[in-house]
Amino acid sequence: PFMTTLDRRTDLARRLKEKYALQDFFIIRGDADDNPELQQALPKLMAEELQKMLFDGAVISVAGGSTMANVGNHLKPVNEHVLFVPARGGLGEEIGNQANSIASRLATAAGGEHKVLHAPDNVGENVFESLKAEPSVMEVAELNRKSHYVIHGIGEAFTMAHRRNVSRETLSELEEKEAVGEAFGYYFNACGDIVSKVRTIGLQLEDLESKQAILAVAGGSSKKEAVGAYMKIAPKNTVLFIDETIAQFLLDSK
Ligand code: BG6
Repeated sequence: PFMTTLDRRTDLARRLKEKYALQDFFIIRGDADDNPELQQALPKLMAEELQKMLFDGAVISVAGGSTMANVGNHLKPVNEHVLFVPARGGLGEEIGNQANSIASRLATAAGGEHKVLHAPDNVGENVFESLKAEPSVMEVAELNRKSHYVIHGIGEAFTMAHRRNVSRETLSELEEKEAVGEAFGYYFNACGDIVSKVRTIGLQLEDLESKQAILAVAGGSSKKEAVGAYMKIAPKNTVLFIDETIAQFLLDSK
């Protein structure tokens, strides 16, 4: 039978929920790689859903990336007192795409507060240990442990590795271990095994389970394998924002 686009997306979301048992799926039409307007539609949808979840005292851990940066364009002022915390100190990316900048943008948009994590990632062992003992750094790490929500993007492993200018050794390691996806500093293969991790102070994978919800966003056919792999590690409390192309891929894959 003929289905309107919205019916089709509702139907895709329902079937994905049955197959993957995650908290929820939100799907936009089309393939976000083909159309810059769609690249805005996903962050907009995420901003709207996040807005509905906020309550007085809500703490939100925020990851980096260009998709996340756009969430700030769509978040509206809220009456509640909310706090945005960077999940990462910065993974060697362009400043506007770093978690610190995005947390600050989101706080400005929502009329909330934000923290800054003064701790670059991937520093040497000694610096890492001393940074971890800094009170302002400890405060942000603690807030990431206790936050109610996490919002983050999912990236294609090699796009992210190149963007972060990782070393030749890391690159070969990612190739050897067949990394396909990346989320907040964790690189994983198609089976969902973590194959590499950026040494970083901030949100850790094991912090995710206790969250009220984890809002993850990714669009475009270039990210379909990455999202497919992420489904193998996504905690049950994940709310996924994707486009139809990825949704169809997830339904077709094993
Ligand atoms: C990174 C996040 O900064 O951005 C990752 O830490 C994510 O979670 C990545 O994989 C996605 O980037 P983009 O630009 O594709 O949204």
